[in-house]
Parts: sequence; C-alpha cells; structure tokens
Amino acid sequence: MAHMPAPLLRTLIVSARYSSSGASHSAIRAVLCSRRALSTQSSSNEKLQSKKADEGAFRGVEGLHYGDIPAVSSARDGGPIADDWVMFHPVYTKEELKAVQTSAHREALTMSDKFANFLIRVLRFGFDLVSGYSHKEIPPGSTMTLEELRKKGYVNTESRWLHRILFLETVAGIPGMAAATIRHLHSLRIMRRDAGWIHTLLEEAENERMHLMTFMTIKKPGILFRAAVLATQGVFYNIFFLSYLINPRICHRFVGYLEEEAVKTYTICISDIESGHFPEWENMPAPEIAKDYWRLAPNATVLDMIYAVRSDEATHRFVNHSLANLKKNDVNPFAIREPDMTVKGVKYGFEREESADYVRDSQKMIQKRD
Ligand SMILES: [Fe+2]
Ligand SMILES: [Fe+2]
Repeated sequence: MAHMPAPLLRTLIVSARYSSSGASHSAIRAVLCSRRALSTQSSSNEKLQSKKADEGAFRGVEGLHYGDIPAVSSARDGGPIADDWVMFHPVYTKEELKAVQTSAHREALTMSDKFANFLIRVLRFGFDLVSGYSHKEIPPGSTMTLEELRKKGYVNTESRWLHRILFLETVAGIPGMAAATIRHLHSLRIMRRDAGWIHTLLEEAENERMHLMTFMTIKKPGILFRAAVLATQGVFYNIFFLSYLINPRICHRFVGYLEEEAVKTYTICISDIESGHFPEWENMPAPEIAKDYWRLAPNATVLDMIYAVRSDEATHRFVNHSLANLKKNDVNPFAIREPDMTVKGVKYGFEREESADYVRDSQKMIQKRD
C-alpha cells in the first residue's frame, strides 16, 4: 500500500464504501473470469501466436470487446442499466443534504475575480431574460393563488423550471471536460504527471451530465431547444477551451461563481416545492437513474433528488473556487478525498494554505492505513 497510486487507493475507498453493492462485485468477478477464460481456454497454441495486421484472428486478440463477454450490468425493474457504470458516485447523509447554504460566496478580491463575477452576472441576467425565468419575493400576507403567483413572475411553472435546468446542465458539463482535456494533453506533451487534477475534473463533467440525464426522464426537449444547445455548446466549449489555455485560474473562478448561482437556483426550487408553490413535483417519485446514482431510498422523491443535485453543485462551487486559488502545478487537494458537505456546503473553498494542509493530512491518513 505504501506506493499505491492515489486513484487506486480512492477506488478502494469508494469500493469499500459501496461494498453493499454485491451485484456489481459479482459482475466484476464475472468479467475477470471471462477475461481469464479468453486468454487461457484455447487448446491450440496457434491461437497464442500473434498475427500480422492483415491476417484474421479470433475475437478477443486485441482485448475484450463488449460482444465477447456476457452483459455485466443488470437492469433493475426493467428500467435503465444500473450499478457501477459511472465514475465516482456522490452519496450524502441527511445532515449533509440540509447543510448546504447559499451564503458561501467568494468575495471578488482581484481584478480577475471581479471580471469572472461580472461575466456570470451578465450571463445570468441574459439567460433569465431569454428563458422567462423569474423569481421575486412574494409580498408578505399575499393571498394570490398559485396561478396568479406564476402569472406575475413570483414563482415559475414546471416547464420554465425544466427549460432552465435542462439547458444549464448541458452547459455545466462542459468546463470540467474541457479543463481535463487540456491538462491531459499538457501531461502528454511535457511527459509529466498531472498533480491529480484530471480525475476530479472528469468527475465533475460526468456529474453534471448525470444531472442532465436525470432531469431528461421528466421532460424530453423539442427540436428548437436541441438546436439552441447545439449552438451554445459549439460556442461555449471553444471559448472556455481557449480561455483555459490562457488563464486556468480565472476559468475555475468563473465556474465557482457559476456554481454559486446553481446552488441558489436549486435552493429556490427546493423552497418552491416545500412551500407548496410547485405541486407538480411535490410527491413525484425520483426516477430510477437518480436512485441508482445517488443511492437514494427506494421510495425517494424528486425533492430528495434535488437536494442531492444541490449538494453536487455545492461541491463544484467548493472545488472550483479552491482550484482557482492554486497554481497550476500544485497538487489537487481533492485527488484522494474531499471534505463532507458540512464543510463544502458552508464554505466557498480552500485558500492555498488550507489546500496544502489538507494534502498533508491526506498523506498522513494514507501512511496510517499502510
Ligand atoms: Fe448540475
Ligand atoms: Fe455544477
């Protein structure tokens, strides 16, 4: 264990945490067994000999193909494919879900902070305008009906919520992937290790994509919406990619501020559901994909799911603001572990010195486990 690479250690920690997922472990065993069978079962030595590129060979010579092995994922209740088919699964306790606060805000101290914050304000204003999203304080003692509240822009309709959430999640999945790509290419180019950033960034990208997949079970967008996503993706990915090449810190700060807005948006959504202003989602059961991804209870509702999504957004807020405080060759403090939501939910991020302390503590923990 002394020289165990961090990602492997993390995999072990995560595997231990989800050891109850017996089905997936037996599936992994099944893959390993079939892998062994493919490489040793052949009775003919001829099959072990390598072939020229243009000569035929039996299936599996270049490694396993999905068609060579039995399906390893199980379908639950005839629903979507379940079990360990994504990267890191975030799972939260009840206390963590409730711990998230919207007040965790990074003061814009430097010019680049101010620029990133300004960009987010402008984008938010523009998107609110275009999507028709509106949230105003309901006057105290109001006797307006839900229909009146929605008409006057105090609360949003289900379709406005879905448009907003679905569109934003298609955008939110871009920065992590673009940043991971750049760091990956950089590592290949200079032939040096990456300081542990790539996996955290990929996890964020996948986590955002899972948000999109989850809400897609409630509404399937139409052709106009999809065209807008296509155009936005083409523009935003390229701008973010180029900006990250020039100044990664400002990009992480920008994402940190974007995630502050995401936490606020989901908090308003939660409060609308809990105050009876969003009756459509009050008792709606959570989709299977969400129960599987966040390990929710079998009777979980969409409200439980949104609490989990909000916690993810608080993680992105914390991680990106922390990374924005680091130099690009600093070790990623979250490569091995992350603080729980009682920290990530209430604090905007780690200062550089705090990250260094956290890395030191993580190393001590690893040494203790050896
Ligand atoms: Fe998200
Ligand atoms: Fe996010």
